[in-house]
Amino acid sequence: TRTQVVIVGAGPAGLMISQMLANRGVDSVAIDIRTREEIENTHRAGILEAQAIKMMDAENVSDRYKTDGYEHDGTIIRVNGVSHRINFKELVGESVWLYPQTDVFIDLANARQKAQGDVRFGVSDVEVVDPYSDNPGVKFVDADGNAQEVRGDFLVGSDGSRSICRFLIPEEGRTQFFREYPFAWFGIMAEAPMSADELIYATNERGFALISQRTESIQRMYLQCNPSDDMYQWSEDQLWEEFQSRLEGSDGFQLKTGKIFERTLLPFRSFVQEPMQHGRIVLAGDAAHTVPPTGARGLNLALSDARALGERLAAAAKGNDVSKLDGYQEAALKRIWRAQNFSYWMTTMMHSLPDENPYDYKRRQGELEMVLGHKSGQTHLAEAYSGWPNEEDG
Ligand code: DHB
Repeated sequence: TRTQVVIVGAGPAGLMISQMLANRGVDSVAIDIRTREEIENTHRAGILEAQAIKMMDAENVSDRYKTDGYEHDGTIIRVNGVSHRINFKELVGESVWLYPQTDVFIDLANARQKAQGDVRFGVSDVEVVDPYSDNPGVKFVDADGNAQEVRGDFLVGSDGSRSICRFLIPEEGRTQFFREYPFAWFGIMAEAPMSADELIYATNERGFALISQRTESIQRMYLQCNPSDDMYQWSEDQLWEEFQSRLEGSDGFQLKTGKIFERTLLPFRSFVQEPMQHGRIVLAGDAAHTVPPTGARGLNLALSDARALGERLAAAAKGNDVSKLDGYQEAALKRIWRAQNFSYWMTTMMHSLPDENPYDYKRRQGELEMVLGHKSGQTHLAEAYSGWPNEEDG
């Protein structure tokens, strides 16, 4: 098969790029080793920044978020049992939407399907061929077991955190920036009513907890733990007790509980690979960068990469002109490093270290007080959390 752009990885980054290309009259073929069902059933984060929502509208993806999502004008940061509300609307004039990544994926997959876009899920034995030529492509075995080869003028590596495409950037010319954190999150899904109107990011001497939501009757919550903790062994009562203990305060806040029907462990890592382009190969989304989950930047960054790339790649493909990709990296990396800093900052400010030195604990409390107790601090947090404006819009 011959196309204009070969997209390796059909998660939110790859599908949004194929949607943007199609909207600009450019053909693509996207492949993914996972089946559609596998992707739809892998729970990820749930918050979309303002720019991501604008993109769903602008690229005609879906407006289902308006009926199935929840607009949040702020969030709660709860420190040692005292809640502080960060009012995004008032501070920076933006809101965010609680709308899970799995729904964004479903909307994108449906939009591509409706437009008869070529997306092949569940392929295997993927091998990139002639990556440095004028017609890079992939060989793979499709879901029906047939050997396939697709060639294009450009190749997008949007194949997630276990990317094979990131290694196409020649080793001597690439740098990988990486850090780990000495804790993890234990995530649960529960059949329970909402405990609050907005998300609660809570921290006290027992550690961090995040009370997020999915629907009126399904909730998503996370608990800071040690990466080696076997929380899968904890009883539901033990888990609920631990959640409540991290939220406990003199206002009498009581978490609403229910049946826990899913458990997952989330590692904490920060990662960026530069450069994100080499000739006709470009990287987007987790293939090029990872953030720890605090602050829900991962999906938003994948979509902002797509936003920085879509228009340029369409122009490059139409004129078969590599130079039209100029500016992609600069635009993408600026947001990526900002988000790296924000995720790192939210993470380190809100988590206790395993053997936290009393000085470090007190310093962290000072930081929290400074951010939450002052408008400048709250504004900084609100701006970063709701997503910075798109400077490229001019
Ligand atoms: C969710 C996850 C996050 O990491 C976050 O910061 C907010 C929400 C979620 O899964 O709902």
